[in-house]
Amino acid sequence: MLYVNQVSKIYEGKITYRALTDIDLTIETGEFVGIMGPSGSGKTTLLNLIATIDEPTTGKILINEKNPHQLKRDELAKFRRRELGFVFQDFNLLHTLTVEENIVLPLTLEGKKVEEMKQKARDIAEKLGISEIMNKRTYEISGGQAQRAAVARAMIHNPKLLLADEPTGNLDSKSSKDVMEMLEYINNKERTTMMLVTHDPQAASYCNRVVFIRDGKFYSEIHRGNNRQAFFQKIIDTLSLLGGDAHDLSSIRV
Ligand SMILES: Nc1ncnc2c1ncn2[C@@H]1O[C@H](COP(=O)(O)OP(=O)(O)OP(=O)(O)O)[C@@H](O)[C@H]1O
Ligand SMILES: [Mg+2]
Repeated sequence: MLYVNQVSKIYEGKITYRALTDIDLTIETGEFVGIMGPSGSGKTTLLNLIATIDEPTTGKILINEKNPHQLKRDELAKFRRRELGFVFQDFNLLHTLTVEENIVLPLTLEGKKVEEMKQKARDIAEKLGISEIMNKRTYEISGGQAQRAAVARAMIHNPKLLLADEPTGNLDSKSSKDVMEMLEYINNKERTTMMLVTHDPQAASYCNRVVFIRDGKFYSEIHRGNNRQAFFQKIIDTLSLLGGDAHDLSSIRV
């Protein structure tokens, strides 16, 4: 479903900086993959290349056998809107709108009819257990609820690939768990392929597989199997081998 082949990224500027070197990564349809590594190791860079927000310097990225980096501007916008879903650390909700209005925003951009949008919003809210907050404004809900609303918005058009960068970065452990359980549910139920960048071993333990990068290069990967607690421990062990700054371990919640 996602095929990253020998991708490198060099940021040109006053000082050129090599953020990624020869990254290979294949993600199968329905897989839920975590990306971990110390701060500055290139995780967000990699996610942005896959999200088509930025272009690789060398190498190739295919999503569903298409190379989005070869699409024309308007085709790319359509591709991004239809095939990809995004979730960010700071939720990115619009504060003047209600939760429901935020969730249907992608459909508004597609010019869908109001009734159809309302129906879709009701369906997804029910499925994801957020019906009771649909008419609230974003300042009337908790961080965890805001992130669950953001996930609902990312899922409203059934994307093939959901990309999340530190979705639990601003949440306490209970809300993190709620958000991760929601992602796990979507992954199981809809078979949506997911890629999650995170510092949080607890969040990463919901993935099927975690890929570690260091200094812009592939470091190692581990698979979950059927015991999440054991996987959590393996993630922590790998992180301590990986080193990096204190920030990486400060976010550990048990
Ligand atoms: N637009 C840019 N121009 C120049 N350098 C950049 C740019 N974006 C990122 N970098 C550099 O590339 C490296 C990788 O950054 P990236 O944001 O991918 O790290 P990260 O692994 O996501 O870190 P964190 O865990 O702190 O979010 C960093 O050294 C960063 O300073
Ligand atoms: Mg980052």
